[in-house]
Amino acid sequence: MCGIVGYVGRTLDGTALDVVMEGLARLEYRGYDSAGVALVDGDHVETRKKSGKLANLTAELAAHPLPPSTTGIGHTRWATHGGPTDGNAHPHRGGKDGKLALIHNGIIENFHALKQGLLAAGVEFTSETDTEVVAHLLAASYDETHDLTDAMRSVVARLEGAFTLLVIHADQPGVVVGARRNSPLVVGLGEDANYLGSDVAAFIGHTRHAMELAQDQIVTITPDGATVINFDGTPAEGKAYEVTWDAAAAEKGGYATFMEKEINDQPHAVADTLLGRTDASGRLVLDELRISEEQLKAVDRITIVACGTAAYAGMTAKYAIEHWTRIPVEVALAHEFRYCDPIVNERTLVVSISQSGETMDTLMAVKHARDLGALTISICNTHGSTIPRESDAVLYTHAGPEIAVASTKAFLAQITASYILGLYLAQLRGGSFADDAQAVMKELAEVPGKIETLLGRMGRVKEIAKFMADTRSVLFLGRHVGYPVAMEGALKLKELAYIHAEGFAAGELKHGPIALIEPGQPVFVIVPSPTSEHGLHGKVVSNIQEIRARGARTLVIAEEGDESVVPFADEVISVPATSQLLAPLLTVVPLQVFALWLSTAKGLDVDQPRNLAKSVTVE
Ligand code: G6P
Repeated sequence: MCGIVGYVGRTLDGTALDVVMEGLARLEYRGYDSAGVALVDGDHVETRKKSGKLANLTAELAAHPLPPSTTGIGHTRWATHGGPTDGNAHPHRGGKDGKLALIHNGIIENFHALKQGLLAAGVEFTSETDTEVVAHLLAASYDETHDLTDAMRSVVARLEGAFTLLVIHADQPGVVVGARRNSPLVVGLGEDANYLGSDVAAFIGHTRHAMELAQDQIVTITPDGATVINFDGTPAEGKAYEVTWDAAAAEKGGYATFMEKEINDQPHAVADTLLGRTDASGRLVLDELRISEEQLKAVDRITIVACGTAAYAGMTAKYAIEHWTRIPVEVALAHEFRYCDPIVNERTLVVSISQSGETMDTLMAVKHARDLGALTISICNTHGSTIPRESDAVLYTHAGPEIAVASTKAFLAQITASYILGLYLAQLRGGSFADDAQAVMKELAEVPGKIETLLGRMGRVKEIAKFMADTRSVLFLGRHVGYPVAMEGALKLKELAYIHAEGFAAGELKHGPIALIEPGQPVFVIVPSPTSEHGLHGKVVSNIQEIRARGARTLVIAEEGDESVVPFADEVISVPATSQLLAPLLTVVPLQVFALWLSTAKGLDVDQPRNLAKSVTVE
C-alpha cells in the first residue's frame, strides 16, 4: 500500500528521474490513486505529481519536464488521509522555502494533535494528508539541526502509527534519508549509486545487492553507501542479502498482463517451493525453521492467521495439517484474531501466511501472538519483509515476484509450503502419518507437471469467460478442500470482474443458498475425485443434480475420466487426477483463468483492479 522509491547517484546525468520513474512503474501494484516525484534542483526541490495512474504523471512530466538531478524520491499512492487528488498526492513540501520534500507510506495516528500545534504556530497546509504534517515538522527540525538524519531522528520520536518516510533537502544534495516503523523499506546497494524502495522491485533493474532494515531504524543513503541508526541514535547494521530473481522476473515476459504471466508461472512456483526441502533419503529437512524439534513436538494447537487469498490457503492447509498431524488447527482472519480473545499459549504454533510479508493486519496478529507467548512461523514470499522478521521462524515460498494485485501463483505456493510444514510436523511427531510424508512429497513433486497439462487445456474456459461477460452473479460450490477453492474462485471474480460472486460449502446449499438458484444462474462446482474418502464425490454429484433441477447452469470442475458428472453438467472442465488433499493446486487454476478472461472481456484493468492494493500496510 503506497510504493516509495529513493535514489542518489554521483553524476548529474539525469538518471534520478529515470530510476525513480522505473521504480514507480514496478511498484504501481502497491497503489494507483496518484503518483509523484521530487528532485533536488540547485537551491530548491522540484516536484511533479498527479492523481490517477502513473501514466498521468508521465504525461505531466512530458508537459513540464524536470531538470537532471543526482537525488530523487517518488511515490505511488493508495489514499488513506485525504482523497486521491493532485493536492493530496505525494511528495509533500515542508517549510516555506521549498527546500524539503517528503513521501510516506502508512498512517501517522497522532497527526491531528501535531497538526493543531503547527496551525497554532502559523503553518499553512496545502493538503489534507497526515504526511504534510511530518514534512513541516522535518523542515522546522532541519532549520535547527542543519542535518537531515538528525532532523528525522528528532521527528520520528514524536510520531505514532506506522510509517516509512523518505525525505530530501536542497541543502543536502546527494542524500536521501529514510525511516521505518511497521512499514516496509529496503536498501539497494549499487556502484556510485544507492537506492531505497518499498520492496526490491523498486531497484531490481539496477542492483541485486539489497539490505534489510530492522524495525525503528533510520537509513541515510549517499552515492558512497548507506548508514543505519536506530531511532534512539545508536549505530546499527543492516542485513545484506542478494535478491535471487532478476528484472526479467518482474516483467510481463510476452504476456498481455502480469496476472496471465503469473498464472502460467504456477508450475514453477510450486516446483521451486518444493525444492531443497528433502534430504537424499526423502526425509523432510527444514533447517531454515530455526525452532528446535523439542519446541515443535510440544505444539498442541495451531492457529493460522492470514487475509484474503492467503487465508484461503490457510483454510486449505487446515484440512491437510489436521489429517497428517492430528493437531487441532484453527484459521483466523488476521484482522479478527486480536479481537476475539484468542486462546494461545507457549504450546500454540501461530502460522502466518502472507505473500508480501507486509500486510498490517497479519503483522499485528503475529505480534499479538508473540506477546501471548506463542511460537510464530511465517510462510512468506518476500525476503526481508516485516512479518518474517517479526516471527520466530520463516518458511519462504519461492513463487518469485507477484505483481498483479489479485494473487494467483502465491496461493499455490502458500498451499505447498503449508503442506510441507504439516508433513514436517507429522514426521517429527512420528504418528501414523509420519511414513506417509515421503509419499506425499513425491506426489507433490508431480503436481507442477499436472498444472502445466491443465494450463494447456484452458482454451474452453477462456471461451466460456468471454461468453459470460454480461453475467451479474456467479456462485461457487465445493466441499472439504474444495470449499476454500470455491471461496477463492469467488474472490478472484469479485476482485477482477466486479461481479457479485459467492463461494459456499456445497453441503450448506440446502440450508439457504439454494434459494438463490433461478433459471440460468451460473454455478461452478468443484467435484472431489471419485477416489475421495467418505463418499464425498457422490454427495457433490447429488448437489449438482439439486441445482440443475432448479435451472442452474452448471460449470463442473472434475477429475479427468469422471463420467458421472457429465449428465448434469453444462460444461465439464477436467483436471488431472491427484489425491484429495492435493487437488486444490489444480482445481483453482480454471477459476483463476475464468476470472482473468471475464475481466478482460469486460475491458477492465486485470492487474490493477479498482480500489485494491496488493500490499495492505494499513489496518
Ligand atoms: C490484499 C490483496 C490480496 C491478498 C491479501 C493478503 O487484500 O489484494 O490479493 O490476498 O492482501 O496479502 P498478503 O501479501 O498478506 O498475502
